[in-house]
Amino acid sequence: MRLSFLALAALGGTPVVVAEHNYYQPTSKGFRMQHGFETVLVQPFGYDGFRIRAWPFRPPTGQEIGFVYDPPLEGPESEAHGMSFDTAFLGNRSEELRNGNMIVRTSGWGGNPGGYRLAFYRVEVNGSETLLTNEYAPLKSINPRYYSWNGPGGEFAAEFSFSATPDEQIYGTGTQQDHVVNKKGMVIDLVNFNTHIPTPMFMSNKGYGFVWNMASTGRMEFGQLRNKFTTDSATAVDYFIVAAASGDYDTLQQRLSALTGRAPKPPSWSLGYIQSKLRYENQTEVVQLAEQFHKRHIPVSLIVIDYQSWAHQGDWGLDPRLWPRVAEMAQKVKKLTNAEMMASLWPSVADDSLNYLEMMAQGFLSATRSGPGTTDSWNGSYIRNYDSTNPGTRQFLWKTLKQNYFDKGIKNFWIDQADGGALGEAYQNNGQSDYIESIPFPMPNALYAAGTQSSIGKLYPWAHQQAIEEGFRNESSTEMGSPCDYLSLSRSGYIGSQRFCSMIWSGDTTAVWETLGAQIASGLSAAATGWGWWTLDAGGFQADPTVSWSANIDRPEYRELYVRWLQWTTFLPFMRTHGSRACDVQSGYTCDNEPWSYGETNTPVIVSYIHLRYQLAEYIQALFSQLHLTGRMILRPLYMDFQTSDARVAEWTRHNHNVTTQQYMFGPRLLVTPVTLPNMTEWSVYLPRTAGNETRPWTYWWTNETYAGGQMVTIPAPVEHIPLFHLGSRTDILSGKVFE
Ligand SMILES: *[C@@H]1O[C@H](CO)[C@@H](O)[C@H](O)[C@H]1NC(C)=O
Ligand SMILES: *[C@@H]1O[C@H](CO)[C@@H](O)[C@H](O)[C@H]1NC(C)=O
Ligand SMILES: *[C@@H]1O[C@H](CO)[C@@H](O)[C@H](O)[C@H]1NC(C)=O
Ligand SMILES: *[C@@H]1O[C@H](CO)[C@@H](O)[C@H](O)[C@H]1NC(C)=O
Ligand SMILES: *[C@@H]1O[C@H](CO)[C@@H](O)[C@H](O)[C@H]1NC(C)=O
Ligand SMILES: *[C@@H]1O[C@H](CO)[C@@H](O)[C@H](O)[C@H]1NC(C)=O
Ligand SMILES: *[C@@H]1O[C@H](CO)[C@@H](O)[C@H](O)[C@H]1NC(C)=O
Ligand SMILES: *[C@@H]1O[C@H](CO)[C@@H](O)[C@H](O)[C@H]1NC(C)=O
Ligand SMILES: *[C@@H]1O[C@H](CO)[C@@H](O)[C@H](O)[C@H]1NC(C)=O
Repeated sequence: MRLSFLALAALGGTPVVVAEHNYYQPTSKGFRMQHGFETVLVQPFGYDGFRIRAWPFRPPTGQEIGFVYDPPLEGPESEAHGMSFDTAFLGNRSEELRNGNMIVRTSGWGGNPGGYRLAFYRVEVNGSETLLTNEYAPLKSINPRYYSWNGPGGEFAAEFSFSATPDEQIYGTGTQQDHVVNKKGMVIDLVNFNTHIPTPMFMSNKGYGFVWNMASTGRMEFGQLRNKFTTDSATAVDYFIVAAASGDYDTLQQRLSALTGRAPKPPSWSLGYIQSKLRYENQTEVVQLAEQFHKRHIPVSLIVIDYQSWAHQGDWGLDPRLWPRVAEMAQKVKKLTNAEMMASLWPSVADDSLNYLEMMAQGFLSATRSGPGTTDSWNGSYIRNYDSTNPGTRQFLWKTLKQNYFDKGIKNFWIDQADGGALGEAYQNNGQSDYIESIPFPMPNALYAAGTQSSIGKLYPWAHQQAIEEGFRNESSTEMGSPCDYLSLSRSGYIGSQRFCSMIWSGDTTAVWETLGAQIASGLSAAATGWGWWTLDAGGFQADPTVSWSANIDRPEYRELYVRWLQWTTFLPFMRTHGSRACDVQSGYTCDNEPWSYGETNTPVIVSYIHLRYQLAEYIQALFSQLHLTGRMILRPLYMDFQTSDARVAEWTRHNHNVTTQQYMFGPRLLVTPVTLPNMTEWSVYLPRTAGNETRPWTYWWTNETYAGGQMVTIPAPVEHIPLFHLGSRTDILSGKVFE
C-alpha cells in the first residue's frame, strides 16, 4: 500500500505529502522551550520522528549546514518546516507532542512538576508506551545539553547525552575497521581518515534511529548508560530521532532515508565487473588490457586509471606524455569490451599544477587558520586541497574534468583521498620520514569557504561527492534522484551520501586474512548507516610489510587469499578489484591484477565468479530498485531479517559473535559467508531460523541440498566454492522475482 506513494517520492527527489491511512497526525507544529540562556526547538519531522535544535544565546539562522531534507522526502501533512513552532514556554513546564507512533515529553528530575529534559517514547499497537531514550541527567548532574566556549569566536562546543541501557545494541556510525556490528562500548572520533568514515547516525535495536546532523568534527561514545555526542564547534545543535517497531529495520531505514536521501539507481552496466589496479601507466597498456578481456571473452564493465597519471597534482587531466590520445583510447576500450572508463583524481593541488595560480587567485583552495598555508604534502610536493565547500570551486573542478576527461570519453570519476583536511593519512606526516608518525596532525587547521575543519570538516567529502554529482547532472540534464548515467567512487562520505551517484569503498586495506574478515563488519555498518553503494578492493589494497607473501601474485598464499576475497565481491553492491601488487619477476608494487594473473588453476575460478555476477544481474537490479524506492538495504546484517525470528541471532549480535560479523544476507534470498581463513577444507555456517513455517528453507547453492533453519552446519569449502545458501527457488532469484 505504501509503495505507490513512495515510488513517487523517490523519483524526482521532490517531497510528496501523503495523508497516510490511520496515521496519527502531529499534535502541533512544535514547541520552543526557553531554559535560561538556552533555547530548545522541538518539531515533528517526517513520519514517526522529531527534529530537535538547541542553542545558547544567539538563535541560529536556520541556514546552518546540514544533511537532512527539510521537508523530508516523506512525511505527514502537518509537520513543521524551517524554524516554525506553535508553542513557546519556559523550561519548567510539562509539554507533550505526538507524531505518528512517537511522543516527546519534557520532564524534570526529582519529582519536579515540569522540566527541561526531553524524553522520547514509542506508542505500541496496544497503546502502551515504550521509553526509547531520554536526555541523560542523573540527579544533580550537569545538564545533558552541555555547552562550552573554548575559542575567541561565538562558536561553542557541546556535549549532548542520552540514556541507554546496558543491553542496547547500536548499529551504523559509518565505517571503522573494528570487526563489530554492535557499536555498544565504542568511542569513535568524528574525524575522517583513510579506511575510517565515522558518521553520526545509528539504529538502536530498541527500534529508533538517530541522526546527529552536524558538519563539525567531534566524538560519539556509546557507554553502558549513556550515549554521548560531541561537537567541537557549532552555532546550533541539530539532531533527529525516528521510531519503528522493534526489529523492523526496513521501516527504520525507510524513515531515516526519507530524511537523509534515497539512493538513485546505478547505470546497469556498473553492476558488472570493475577492473582496477595500481596502476595502468599509459594508454598503450590500457588498450592492451582491453584486448586481453576481448580475446579471453571475459566481461568487464569499467576500467580504471589510478593516480599519478597526471603531470602534477591538481592538473585534473592525464599527462599527455603518457596519454597522448585519450579519446581514441576510450573508444578502443569501448569497442573491444563495451566497458566504460573511470579516472582517479586527488583533491590536492601542488604549486606547480597548471591550475594553481588561477585557483589561488580565485580563492578556490583551502587554507589554514593562520593564513593561506599548505594543508599537507605528498611525495615531495606541498599541496593545498581544493575547497569542495565553495560552489565556484566545484564548478571549476567540473569544468576541468569535463574538458580533460568527460568530453574525451572517460566519464566516471574516482575521488580518492577525499577525506578532507589533509590527505587523510595522518601517519604520512607531511611527507617526512616514516619513523616520525602523526606529528603534527594538520587537519584541525584547515580552513574552507564554509568554515574551519572543526566546524564543517565533515562536510568536505560529502561536498566533493556533490561536485561530481552536479557535474553529472548538468551533463545529462537530469535531476538528482533520477537514474544515474555515470558514477563516482569515493573514499569517504557522510550522512546522506547515498543520494549521490557515488560508490563508497572501504579504503586502503592490507592484503591479509584478518583484513578480509574486518571488511565484512565494515560493510554491514555502512549498510546500517544508509549507504547502499558500498564496495572494496578485492584482494586488499596493499602489502602488509610484516607478511612476506602479502599482495604478491606469485605466492600461493596470496593467490588463495585473492580468490577468496574476489569471490566474495560477487555478493557486494559493486564487484570491484583493485590494489598494489608485487610479483617475483619484477620489483616494486605495480604488478598484474587481472582475472588471469593468479595462476592457471585460479583463473577459471575467478572467471566463474565474474560470470556468476552477470547471471545475478536481474536479482541485483531488483535489490537496487528496492533500495531506491524505500531505502531497503542490499547488504543485510543478520539482525535485519532474523532479530525477531531467531533469538540466537539477537543474542549473538549483542556480543558481536562472529556469525553476526562474518555472515550476512545479500538481498532477501542469499546468505553469504566468505571464507576468511587460509587452507580451509570445510567451513561452518549458521543458518538462521526464518519467520515462515517451511521445514527446510535453506538450499546450499552448490549441491541443492536443503537444510532447516536454526542450526550450525559444516559444509565443504574448496577454494572454488564460497559458502552460499539461498531461500526460495533459484529460478526466482535469477529472474529477480524476489519481492512481493
Ligand atoms: C514557570 O516559571 C514561570 C516564571 O517563574 C512562572 O510564571 C510559571 O508559573 C512557572 N510554571 C510552572 C508550570 O511552574
Ligand atoms: C503492549 O505491547 C508491548 C509491545 O509489544 C508489550 O511489551 C506490552 O507487554 C503490551 N502490553 C499489554 C498490556 O499487553
Ligand atoms: C606503458 O607502460 C608499460 C607498463 O609499465 C611499459 O612497459 C611501457 O613501456 C609503457 N609504454 C609507453 C609507450 O610508455
Ligand atoms: C614520487 O614522484 C616521483 C616523480 O617525481 C615518482 O617517480 C615516484 O614514483 C613517486 N613516488 C611515489 C611513492 O609515488
Ligand atoms: C551545474 O549547473 C548549474 C546551473 O547552470 C551551475 O550553477 C553549477 O555550478 C553547475 N555545477 C557544476 C559542478 O558545474
Ligand atoms: C568464529 O569463532 C569460532 C569459535 O571461536 C571459530 O572456531 C571460527 O573459526 C570463527 N570463525 C571465523 C570466521 O573467524
Ligand atoms: C597451508 O597449507 C600449506 C601447504 O600445505 C602450508 O605450507 C601452510 O603452512 C598452510 N598455511 C597455514 C596458515 O596453515
Ligand atoms: C504454513 O504452511 C502451510 C502449508 O504449506 C500454509 O498453508 C500456511 O499458510 C503456512 N503458514 C504460514 C504462517 O506461513
Ligand atoms: C541445482 O538446481 C539448479 C536449478 O535450480 C540447477 O541449475 C543446478 O544444476 C542444480 N545443481 C546441482 C548440483 O544439482
